Amino acid sequence: MALEIVRSVAEIRSRVNDYKSNGKTVCLVPTMGGLHAGHLSLIAKAKEVADIVVVSIFVNPTQFNNPDDFETYPGDEEKDLESITREGADLVFIPTVNEMYPEGFSTEVKVTAGIDILCDAHRPGHFDGVATVVTKLFLQVGANFACFGEKDYQQLFIIKRLVTDLNIPIIIHPAPTVRENDGLAMSSRNARLNKAERKVAPQLNQAMQLAREKINKGGSISKACEKAKEQLESKDHFKVEYFEVRCGESMVLVDKPSSKCRLFAAAWLGDVRLIDNIKL
Ligand code: PAF
Repeated sequence: MALEIVRSVAEIRSRVNDYKSNGKTVCLVPTMGGLHAGHLSLIAKAKEVADIVVVSIFVNPTQFNNPDDFETYPGDEEKDLESITREGADLVFIPTVNEMYPEGFSTEVKVTAGIDILCDAHRPGHFDGVATVVTKLFLQVGANFACFGEKDYQQLFIIKRLVTDLNIPIIIHPAPTVRENDGLAMSSRNARLNKAERKVAPQLNQAMQLAREKINKGGSISKACEKAKEQLESKDHFKVEYFEVRCGESMVLVDKPSSKCRLFAAAWLGDVRLIDNIKL
């Protein structure tokens, strides 16, 4: 079946309604374009869980706290559409900024759990923008399911919270982080790394694995994280924002490892901010 491109809310709602009234289930994969293998794995997962897959592409201005980041966010609609077609999605929803935020727009969705920590502590307002646009997408599309990557674990946590709190009838399917061969977590922003930065970028994940190994052998969590931070920063190229272990269910900081724990890290490499998380 050919990929169908839809740009208005009325049209996406009506297409999904048609599918659902014909007994089909629908899964949404929200993206901001700049698609890589991580996004494609979400489309593959969506195909497993539903009959019809809708991919949205919208570079959401309200979640960027840095105007340069928004301006230079990588994306190429034609290339993205080719990848989506190849992966076998059925519909793409590509709204304009005006379609999403028409004049007079003045509502915000703010989740108050799982914030003030990790990325939110460094990107104030970012998750309000994410929560608002994701709520809109859920209500606009009316899908039965949605897929999100675990790479943005805090985002996933906040989205699960808002679905529960606002009784949105959608089931969230998380999908594991997809990595390059050298362990670097895939991200659209990796395209902005220069050659030298790209070469050292996997050191973030390597430092995380080393810290995990120390912790799992009985070492102190705070010492392992401190040491990892120190080593990354001593190499001169990384500026670490956070490197810490939290409970993956409550997002609370922990000092004793358990199977629920995750190690979270974010660091700047030049002008590019890398984030990653792994299970302990
Ligand atoms: O993860 C992303 O790409 C974005 O934050 C999302 C979920 C598509 C909302 O704009």
